[in-house]
Amino acid sequence: MNNPKRDVVILGGGSHAKMLGAILLRRGIAVKGYISKLKPSDDMVWLGQDEVLESFARDGAVFINGIGSVKNCELRTRVYLNAKASGAEFMSIQDTSAQVHFDTAMPEAIILLTNAVAQVGCKVGANVLINTGAILEHDVEVGPHSHIAPGAVVCGGVKIGAGVHFGAGAVALQNLHIGGGAIVGAGAVVTKNVEAGTTVVGNPARAI
Ligand SMILES: CC(C)(COP(=O)(O)OP(=O)(O)OC[C@H]1O[C@@H](n2cnc3c(N)ncnc32)[C@H](O)[C@@H]1OP(=O)(O)O)[C@@H](O)C(=O)NCCC(=O)NCCS
Repeated sequence: MNNPKRDVVILGGGSHAKMLGAILLRRGIAVKGYISKLKPSDDMVWLGQDEVLESFARDGAVFINGIGSVKNCELRTRVYLNAKASGAEFMSIQDTSAQVHFDTAMPEAIILLTNAVAQVGCKVGANVLINTGAILEHDVEVGPHSHIAPGAVVCGGVKIGAGVHFGAGAVALQNLHIGGGAIVGAGAVVTKNVEAGTTVVGNPARAI
């Protein structure tokens, strides 16, 4: 991850956005500020609401999606797609402690937080968030806009669709498919394929 040498603007003003600002600072990149509906805490520079996004994009700023998820990925998907439609260009960020195998395909706007791991052969779509300590084992595929929450373990060869929230500490056994828009609850152990759009919880994971 290189210093973009452009103004860096984070979309979102909550604690997830603040954490991304701290990760960037550790890499020597100071963010210009945050665009959010509500004014963020005093230690974050507020640039304004969505209306100001276009002018920052025109002036050459590069953006980061600072929206996390605790249930579904709709908001973080919408924020990203709306910003793209307004001409925003996104950068990917990676904490210094994250480990990404060199041949892992990484398109734009990927976020890998502290101690996240993506092993050899992984393919990750745009606007994916791989949160603190999450592990993608070899050959895992993650569709765009999905969130792999803290401490999750996705075993080798698993295919995760678009916009999936894969919960904190959840595990998916090897080679399974998790359909687009599915929600895997925190701590679930996924032992069978998960249908698109369903929510599963528990060990073994069952639909609710
Ligand atoms: C699965 C989840 C999305 C369900 O949320 P919800 O639709 O609001 O569901 P509710 O809280 O109303 O719970 C519905 C039922 O499922 C149970 N349940 C909810 N989440 C569960 C989980 N992770 N494991 C086991 N059971 C769970 C509840 O106890 C409740 O059972 P009951 O009807 O017998 O009381 C949510 O609980 C969850 O696990 N989210 C992931 C959190 C996460 O990953 N955070 C990381 C942020 S970085």
